[in-house]
Amino acid sequence: MRAQLIIAILFCVSLSGYSQVLTSPQKKLTLQFQLTEKGEPTYQLSIGNKKVTEPSLMGLELKEQPALTEGFTIARIDTTSVNEKWNPVWGEVKEIVNNYRELAAHLQQTTTGRNMIIRFRLFDDGLGFRYEFPAQSKLTYFTVTGERTQYQLTGNHKSFWIPGDYDTNEYPYTTSVLSEVDALTESKKYNEIGTQSPIGKNVVQTPFMMNSADGLYINIHEAALLNYPAMYLKVNQENFSLSTELAPDAFGNKAYLQTPCNTPWRTVLVSYKAADLLMSKTILNLNEPSVIKETSWIKPQKFVGIWWGMHMGTATWNYADQGNIILKNTDWSKLKPNGKHGATTQNTKRFIDFAATHGLDGVLVEGWNVGWEDWAGNWKEEVFDFVTPYPDFNVNELQAYAKEKGVKLIMHHETSSSVTNYERRIDQAIRFMKDHGYDAVKTGYVGRIIPRGEFHDGQWMVNHFTRVAEKFATNKIMMDAHESVRPTGQHRTYPNWMASEAARGNEFNAWSSGNPPEHETILPFTRLMGGPMDYTPGIFQIKLDYYNTGNKYQVHTTLAKQLALYVTMYSPLQMAADLPENYEKHLDAFQFIKDVPVDWDDTKVLEAEPGDYIVTARKEKGKQAWFIGAITDEDKRDVPVSFSFLEPNKTYVVTIYGDAPDAHWETNPMAYAIQNYTVTSKTILKLKLAAGGGAALVVKPATAEQSKKIKRYK
Ligand code: NOJ
Ligand code: CA
Repeated sequence: MRAQLIIAILFCVSLSGYSQVLTSPQKKLTLQFQLTEKGEPTYQLSIGNKKVTEPSLMGLELKEQPALTEGFTIARIDTTSVNEKWNPVWGEVKEIVNNYRELAAHLQQTTTGRNMIIRFRLFDDGLGFRYEFPAQSKLTYFTVTGERTQYQLTGNHKSFWIPGDYDTNEYPYTTSVLSEVDALTESKKYNEIGTQSPIGKNVVQTPFMMNSADGLYINIHEAALLNYPAMYLKVNQENFSLSTELAPDAFGNKAYLQTPCNTPWRTVLVSYKAADLLMSKTILNLNEPSVIKETSWIKPQKFVGIWWGMHMGTATWNYADQGNIILKNTDWSKLKPNGKHGATTQNTKRFIDFAATHGLDGVLVEGWNVGWEDWAGNWKEEVFDFVTPYPDFNVNELQAYAKEKGVKLIMHHETSSSVTNYERRIDQAIRFMKDHGYDAVKTGYVGRIIPRGEFHDGQWMVNHFTRVAEKFATNKIMMDAHESVRPTGQHRTYPNWMASEAARGNEFNAWSSGNPPEHETILPFTRLMGGPMDYTPGIFQIKLDYYNTGNKYQVHTTLAKQLALYVTMYSPLQMAADLPENYEKHLDAFQFIKDVPVDWDDTKVLEAEPGDYIVTARKEKGKQAWFIGAITDEDKRDVPVSFSFLEPNKTYVVTIYGDAPDAHWETNPMAYAIQNYTVTSKTILKLKLAAGGGAALVVKPATAEQSKKIKRYK
């Protein structure tokens, strides 16, 4: 199904000042590529007659070599168009259309004779472009010291941003116009993680979401970040130009490359409808197809975990209380247990039982392996070996028990960012997993990277994450990476890298100022543009003084909103994050978590406005049922939901797990109501969302009896 048309245009003369125009398949977007008088490559993007960017500069700066930013002539222009479909291993839709027009500008730098290709792919909802360096004698090994890529915007757009920190994305979002971005001040307010890297005053993280005064939504990110550092944007607050910054390595260099090679794609998504950006598949399309051929072992799943108790302080990861333990020389059975260790054989069995009773697939167990006495604070290089269980965690007994109950244990590898230690030990760790029946792992990179000087987002770590995903793929292991670089659609290529954290997850509500109610209405427009997030939704016990009097923290949500997040925040791995005993008190509401799928045939974002609300409908994979999630920020809201996407002339039953009339995230967060109605494709439901609230809906074809018995929605 690949329609391809290649036109090569050969130029014999220098073509500075010459410009080339490319339109998207349905002519929604237009790209203009041009060399300036100085031979600098520039691009300019428009939607209809409106400019998204003014002509913007491109190119790279190199160490001890002239920059690849000017003095170019065009040797050749190739254009191609592609229109194909592919099926993801798992995802929000079962089929993805990849339809774009491509322009590849083959450039030569006159003074040095070096060649560079700038490849543009123009889709109807966005642009991708990257720099490519063919094998050539005048450019072999080179060190990138900076990237020239600019996005010359047309106004002082409203923007949703977090500081451009090389080590972490775990910040709440700030909404401001470009001229008021102040990443430095914002970053100083949030020191919960203690990893913060030098942050430029006006440097922000991507995906960077903007909304222009005349109603345009623009999202800038990157696709297929491989063998290169993550990209940040530096905001020029006078002329609204964004320029590219890259995470450095220990020497301040950005990337070490060898021809033939290329950079990741730079992406600009654009639409007049915010909801459409959430359905864009452009970032995914710019990634290479799966390197894993046999994928039947990759299974989207829901899991519970020995986890929230540690974040609540009712259990510990560590077995003993003494610190500064030497991994190699400690007889763990002689240490005095602290009495609060979470990952005991008995407790793990309780979680396995709960998962089995409720049809959940997995149980994550954190704190099962020796080393947690030292994991944070002492920051030693050798903290964990990933193969030695604590004396009270009987891995063989649990393997047999889980198998008997039809539940999978999920491995946990907290590296505490001692990355060379992890790389040294990973083969043994994988063998341990294979021997003990584990086929999924949650990795973690808390703290500053060891060796010091490297950053979570630098080329060195980007390569580490990819190498680990590849190793797990070879061994048929699914991966969920916490504290990793933020994703860029590489789950198309490595579908076993199913989720990442790489943002401020629900856990921040446990022990910090937390995530304001608007947080989850912004995440899909920012962090999730690159791929699924392990947000860990599903907290039912919302006020945390329940665990210890005086605890002033709470999750900034209603209970119904926690359910809605399973739909609005797409991930093929979803945790039911609360403790079993809290679910057992609300089994009627827990039913939604049991029923909600983690893999879908179709997705429709019905309504969305970043920072305000999101309403998403998804159709269960291979089934007739639809699930809808609606969430709001701190404002209560009436949301009309049109069922026009249902089959006409058919009766369905909708179950609404909604906020009770008196619910409020702060004063009455756990008040919910469950209602059933019959509906058709003509029904428009009026959902009432409480302040900080939400609703989760299940829509299924009605049986004859249900059609008679259940009240029609009016
Ligand atoms: C941070 C992770 O995000 C969290 O989920 C985990 O429990 C801790 N690190 C310990 O590894
Ligand atoms: Ca984290």
